[in-house]
Formats: sequence, structure tokens, C-alpha cells
Amino acid sequence: SPRVFSGVQPTGNLHLGNYLGAIGRFAALQSTHDCIYCVVDLHAITQARSVWGGPEGLRESTRSVTAAYLAAGIDPVKNIIFNQSQVEAHSELAWVFNCIARMGWLNRMTQFKEKAGKDRENASTGLFAYPNLMAADILVYKATHVPVGEDQKQHLELARDIAGKFNNDFADEIAGQGFGEAYFPLPEPLIQGEAARVMSLKDGSKKMSKSDPSDLSRINLTDDADAIAQKIRRARTDPEPLPSEVKGLEGRAEADNLVGIYAALAGISREAVIAEFGGAQFSTFKPALADLAVQKLAPIAGEMRRLTADPGHIDQVLVDGADRARAIAEPVMDGVKDIIGFIRKR
Ligand code: TYM
Repeated sequence: SPRVFSGVQPTGNLHLGNYLGAIGRFAALQSTHDCIYCVVDLHAITQARSVWGGPEGLRESTRSVTAAYLAAGIDPVKNIIFNQSQVEAHSELAWVFNCIARMGWLNRMTQFKEKAGKDRENASTGLFAYPNLMAADILVYKATHVPVGEDQKQHLELARDIAGKFNNDFADEIAGQGFGEAYFPLPEPLIQGEAARVMSLKDGSKKMSKSDPSDLSRINLTDDADAIAQKIRRARTDPEPLPSEVKGLEGRAEADNLVGIYAALAGISREAVIAEFGGAQFSTFKPALADLAVQKLAPIAGEMRRLTADPGHIDQVLVDGADRARAIAEPVMDGVKDIIGFIRKR
């Protein structure tokens, strides 16, 4: 049966890109799929301590991402919400995948190149092997569908390559032990909606990101109404009014981004936004966008504040979720051990 898995890193502030590209779309899948949503704390520590904020920062961000999941309407009883480090099988399968994936495959990962920057000698080996852990996250549940933003597409392709190579390398053992033709499914990315790639408000050629030094480049989920309005007012645009057809957004990255954000927040298409605002100046469109953003985001921020005021409750959600996640992951990992030939207690 179709199973959804996705993860969000607990590193600093969540922003509008995380929400429109991922978290805000997770809840919609819960009526049709069996969903597992993870706070990927093991991934967070692949970067410098200053990025994930040390132990206090990590705990706070882990609770904040959990609160965002809950505030976005994910039901933690029907679905599973947990933090990655509580389920050992992620690390175990990641090690196996370190031995399946090839250096050449990982060398092609653009996110590693971006995150490691010029000083590649000084990047952690965890950052390099990160996509293997991500593949393990998904495959340890034999998940079939992975809702993510556009920037994760390459990592999903790698996860498929890893699943395929494992199935192939151990084809005889997989069949011999009654697992059929393939042990792992090839997981499919679900990259959907009008805001699968939200761009920086200051530069339409860069994606909105937690690591941009300018806070004006992004709308944080915890920004108040004034901050949201100010950031949208100051967002970079060109001097032309909005085009009268969607085609006219081509080559106008900043305008296209704002229209896409409006569409995603309103739950409508770019076409519908242009039908309403085509020909309008940004001095008209920006205040409308700011109102919409405040109207949609303020309740989420409020709910996140309410939830994070009770860390004990959040931690319990994660512990309960981890117990249920482990119950799925451990048998999958046992199968991997048997296929490879690791002796284990029976
Ligand atoms: P992370 O924590 O960087 O981002 C979380 C989710 O937000 C999406 N996203 C965006 N979507 C649209 N526009 C943007 N500007 C934008 N920025 C971020 C991301 O695509 C992601 O869906 N490697 C992952 C976390 C991860 C994961 C997994 C995801 C670890 N294991 C297994 C899926 C399945 C990451 O760093 O996401």
C-alpha cells in the first residue's frame, strides 16, 4: 500500500518555502495515505554546530518543527510524527547504504557543493554521506511517496538508484528468502503545487533558505504581521506591472515568485492570480499578498507558540511516534541483515 515519508531538518527558523513546498502539503495526504513525518535531527548535525545551534538550539528546533507539523494539521494519532535519532534503524540502514552508493554518485550532489562551499576539505564526512541517510530514512519504511520541495529532487533520484542497486546486488538472496523480485520500492517524489520552489525575496535566482544571511530574504513561520508586511513591501521586483497572462511571468523571476506564493497561499493556480491581478502595479499586489500571508500564517504561528509552551507534550508526541516508527522499521532492517548475511538474535 502507498506509504508517505518526509522529513524536515531542525536547523533554525522554518520559512515560507518549507511551509509551501512541504509541511503545508503534508496534512492533505493523511486521508489517502499512511504517512510518516520525521524531524531529521541526525541530518542537522552534518553542518557546523553554529548552524544547528548546539544542544539547546537542537532541542528547541526539534520541538519547533514538531509544533509546525501539528499546527499544519497533521494528526499524530492517525500518522506518525517522531524525531529520527530515536529510531536506530535509520543509522543502521544508512551505514549499509554508505556501502551501496558510489563516490561518483555523491560527487554529483549539488546540495553538497552548495553547503560545503569552497572549503570542501573541511566539510564533515556526514555532510557528504547525507543523501545516503536520507535514502535510509525513506526506505527503512519501504515508503513509496515522498512529498518535498523541488530542491530535494536530486536526492530522491539518488534514493531510487540506491534502492535499485541494493535490489540488484542482492537479487538472488532477496528472491531466495521469499521477498520477491525487489526488497525496496523505488520511491517517487511528490513535487507539487505552485510553490515547489519558493525563491528569496531579495534575489529571484536564489531559493528561499534558512542559511541566507539576510532575514529580509525570507518569511519565517514565526514572523509577526508587521514583519511579514514589511518583508513583502521590501521584496525585490521589476518596475513593470503584473502581466495579463501567465506567459508574461517568464524571465521575471521575482514577479513569478510573488505570484506563485500568492497562488499557493490562496490554494489557487497562477492563472487565477493573474486573472485577478493582471495589469496591477506591485503597489496594489504587494499589500494584497501581505494580507493573505498574514491571514494564512498568523494562525499557524499562534498554534506553534501555544504548542511549544508545553515541551513535555511535544516530547511525548515524539516518543510515541518513535515507538510506532520503530515497529515498522525494525522488521525491514532485520530483512536487510538476513539478506546481507549478518547473524542476529532470532
Ligand atoms: P530541509 O529541512 O532543507 O527542508 C524541508 C522541506 O522544505 C522544502 N523546501 C522548500 N520548498 C520550496 N521552496 C523552498 N525555498 C524550500 N526550501 C526548503 C524542502 O524541499 C523539504 O521538502 N534533505 C531534506 C530533509 C530530509 C528528507 C528525508 C526529506 C531528510 N530525510 C527523507 C524527505 C525524505 C532537507 O534538508 O530538507
